[in-house]
Amino acid sequence: MRMNRPPAGLELPTPPAPLARLSQQLGHRIADDIRRSGPVSFEHYMRMALYEPGLGYYVNGLHKFGASGDFVTAPEQGKLFAGALARQVDEIARSLTGDYLIMEPGAGSGALARDLLSTLSHRPQRYLILETSAALRAVQRETLSELPDEVLQRIEWIDAPPDQPFDGVIIANEVADALPVAVFSIGKDGLQERCVRVHGDRLGWVDQTPRPRLAGAFADLQERLGKQLAVGYSSEICLDLPAWLETISRPLRTGTVLLIDYGYPRSEYYLPERSAGTLVCHYRHRAHFDPFVWPGLTDLSAFVDFSAVADAGARCGLELAGFTTQADFMVAMDAHEAIEAATDEATRMRLAGELKRLIMPGEMGEKFKLLGLCRGMEKPPSGFAFSDQRHRLQASSAAL
Ligand SMILES: C[S@@+](CC[C@H](N)C(=O)[O-])C[C@H]1O[C@@H](n2cnc3c(N)ncnc32)[C@H](O)[C@@H]1O
Repeated sequence: MRMNRPPAGLELPTPPAPLARLSQQLGHRIADDIRRSGPVSFEHYMRMALYEPGLGYYVNGLHKFGASGDFVTAPEQGKLFAGALARQVDEIARSLTGDYLIMEPGAGSGALARDLLSTLSHRPQRYLILETSAALRAVQRETLSELPDEVLQRIEWIDAPPDQPFDGVIIANEVADALPVAVFSIGKDGLQERCVRVHGDRLGWVDQTPRPRLAGAFADLQERLGKQLAVGYSSEICLDLPAWLETISRPLRTGTVLLIDYGYPRSEYYLPERSAGTLVCHYRHRAHFDPFVWPGLTDLSAFVDFSAVADAGARCGLELAGFTTQADFMVAMDAHEAIEAATDEATRMRLAGELKRLIMPGEMGEKFKLLGLCRGMEKPPSGFAFSDQRHRLQASSAAL
């Protein structure tokens, strides 16, 4: 078994030998699975590439976040994003009676938890971090160790959401994009599932009859889109999304789920110009589209279908509280005030640069969206007040 090399024209830094060996080990393990039982769904491949114990991207203990990693998320840019979220959480907390909790699935480096806990005026009684990766838990503990003991005592790492109902806020930033996706393509004879096989001695794509679960989800998608996707069209469906949302939101008695990610409403997700799908790979700040290059060293993600999130929320009994861009959320939360409050020019310049990255359309401002789901709340969160674009979630493609 040889490692897949970057395709012609794609310049990627070569990983150091020990990391290349780790990737090779994972590649062998995936290939063994395929040799044993035939081609695997892309979903299976993505799950192994990201979460295979000891080897997968999120569990192998290598550095991922920030300038020296593979990508930079909003909480890694500085404190403005957490500051805006803190204002939103404070508002929600004020409307709840008694103690409240924050639960953060997929806390990455722990930067958001640290900055929220040091900014909130109304701190939660407990801050629950639902993290599947033991390696990332260690990183989070390190990041959070700078908080005072009184705050640290409120943080708890959990393997599953609590059984007991709670009032509070669930925040998931860039987690839904890391859920494994199934990939489909439309062939001349109809729907195909894009699977992974061993070609000679390398990993590669192969199209197969779709699993019934994908076929059912695709039929539902076509109906909701109100149009047929053309032959040659390929894209993704996150089959795990409804179950994931149900699991994290089940104990929420009163409160709000805030989901932040890159994605589109359904009608924009499956546009003709996205006929090759939205799957994207990140390695050392280079984005590319070949998921078989350096498995375990490369982040794999797919854009989020926010209409699917809203539908899944409705099935969990959650009410749609709003949908907006990250830029409009930051405006609604008066993020610029931090710049005005800066006492020196250097800080002002730094914060202005940070805000620009968070809100400019060519950076994170338009690509990233916030979707709010609530249960038992009287007022919608103010973060959606500046521009609530929920109408985009229900539009059919035929209307575009
Ligand atoms: C792209 S990182 C985002 C990290 C962080 N939220 C941030 O914004 O910097 C994805 C995170 O989701 C976690 N994750 C993936 N699947 C998960 C799941 N089913 N439940 C909880 N966390 C999960 C990963 O381990 C990782 O911490």
